[in-house]
Amino acid sequence: MIDRRGFLGAAGAGAIGLAAGMPRARARAATSAGATVDVLLDEPIGRIRPEIYSHFTEHIGGVIYDGIWVGPDSKVENVGGIRKQLVDYMKRLGKVAIRWPGGCFADIYHWRDGIGPVEKRPRRFGRWREVTEPNTFGTHEFMRFCRLCGDEPYFAANVGAGDPTEFQHWVEYCNAPAGSTTLADERVANGDRDPFKVAYWGVGNESWGCGGKFTPEDYCKEYRRFTEWVPEYGVKLKLVAAGPNGNDLDWTRRFLAKWLDGARAPLHAFAAHYYCGTTGHALEFSVDQWYEMLHKGNYMETLVRDQWAAMGEFDRERRVKLIIDEWGAWHPEGTGINPNHQFEQMGCLRDALVAALTLDVFNRHADKIDMANVAQLINNIHSLFLADGDRFVCTPNFHVFEMYRPHHGATSVRVEAQAPGVSFKAGDREESIFRVAGSASKGEGKAVTLTLVHSHASEPLEAEIRLKGAQAASVRKVVLTHEELNAHNTFDAPDVVAPVASATDLNGGAFRVVLDPASVTRLDVTLA
Ligand code: AHR
Repeated sequence: MIDRRGFLGAAGAGAIGLAAGMPRARARAATSAGATVDVLLDEPIGRIRPEIYSHFTEHIGGVIYDGIWVGPDSKVENVGGIRKQLVDYMKRLGKVAIRWPGGCFADIYHWRDGIGPVEKRPRRFGRWREVTEPNTFGTHEFMRFCRLCGDEPYFAANVGAGDPTEFQHWVEYCNAPAGSTTLADERVANGDRDPFKVAYWGVGNESWGCGGKFTPEDYCKEYRRFTEWVPEYGVKLKLVAAGPNGNDLDWTRRFLAKWLDGARAPLHAFAAHYYCGTTGHALEFSVDQWYEMLHKGNYMETLVRDQWAAMGEFDRERRVKLIIDEWGAWHPEGTGINPNHQFEQMGCLRDALVAALTLDVFNRHADKIDMANVAQLINNIHSLFLADGDRFVCTPNFHVFEMYRPHHGATSVRVEAQAPGVSFKAGDREESIFRVAGSASKGEGKAVTLTLVHSHASEPLEAEIRLKGAQAASVRKVVLTHEELNAHNTFDAPDVVAPVASATDLNGGAFRVVLDPASVTRLDVTLA
């Protein structure tokens, strides 16, 4: 692990006044500002769909091959070729969705290449770095992965280099009952009698970019062609249009204006992508860059609000939901574990806070967001896992996703957090970021879950938690943090960043908790 103390000393202290080389432990004794967090239990926002916690897997670098697929003859423990350890950890994250096969790869992928006897499958141009795509992992293998994990598939169809017939045949191949059509029988012959019942279908990916460089109007025309009379076979299809690059409102407005111009094509959701980029490097950054990174991550709040408002200009009945099917912090390469794993990065505590604050944004907008897919599951950008041959480790991001699991399916309620912001420098600009932010939900019975991100790099914060109109009978606390801002888990030291759970003696309508610096905290409240 990089010695952060030394690095920060060299990089400068940043706006919060860390003296060069000063260990964070000493700064912890500094004064703390107070905060109040009101949990407005009588102000429900909506049900938090578990799909907000979904994943993305593309044929790129080490995601599919080595990450998910090791092959049935591998010495790595596997279930029919799929990495068993990954499946075991995925089960701990609850039933969500997994998006596949891309990404940019989706718009050159011809699904027939990935079915039938493996030895007969064609080898193709692999799009990313032109690595040969062997097609060993195709529709059946992906569905097996989903079924093993207990997750729902979300397919991305090829608009860039495909056509509507190819897409509709893929739907038929997946969903038609055995015996009903030639394609259904082909699926049966390939080993799966039961239909896959795939409901979520993305129609293209980044259609403004790698998915065909369409104008919004031209993409909308394609979308209409692709989505007209798609075979359903009893499965209520959820057709998803490729949305904007980040918060590009022009794309959104022009696509939806065209969508309204004539008979509306079926449109379940509109999918934006937002990568909050980097500041510094995956593991080397100043304190200012710590804050700037969190600030960039928190732009998701603005994006969701802006996109939702623009969508409402065209969809007044609010039938179309928002999906964010790629998101995460994207650092420069250099901290990967295997040079073949393109875009692989070592996720550290900072990425865990980006994940947590992003998931809190989604929870707070549970009425708008249908699904979100962190990019990407394993051996890639904002990954939950890293694997190389028989070595495997969970990144701090995994722990955030597991910590947030009690929110799945619960009712999001409004939270008001008040604390003075933290100032920092982004280049020459003075900026400020929230000191504490979070989300809360009411689950089964008397359970209330509150998750809080505390951004301050070095000082703790005492926060008063106030439960509107309710009393806590008991409170349990789970905290993810570390002394070093760039702390991360490696194959040799897999538990450097891991959550710590503890009982508390807190109760009542209001109680105080001390939030550690640079932390994610979950409070499990049982109401009286
Ligand atoms: O996640 C990597 C790439 O980033 C995806 O293929 C693409 O959709 C995005 O630009």
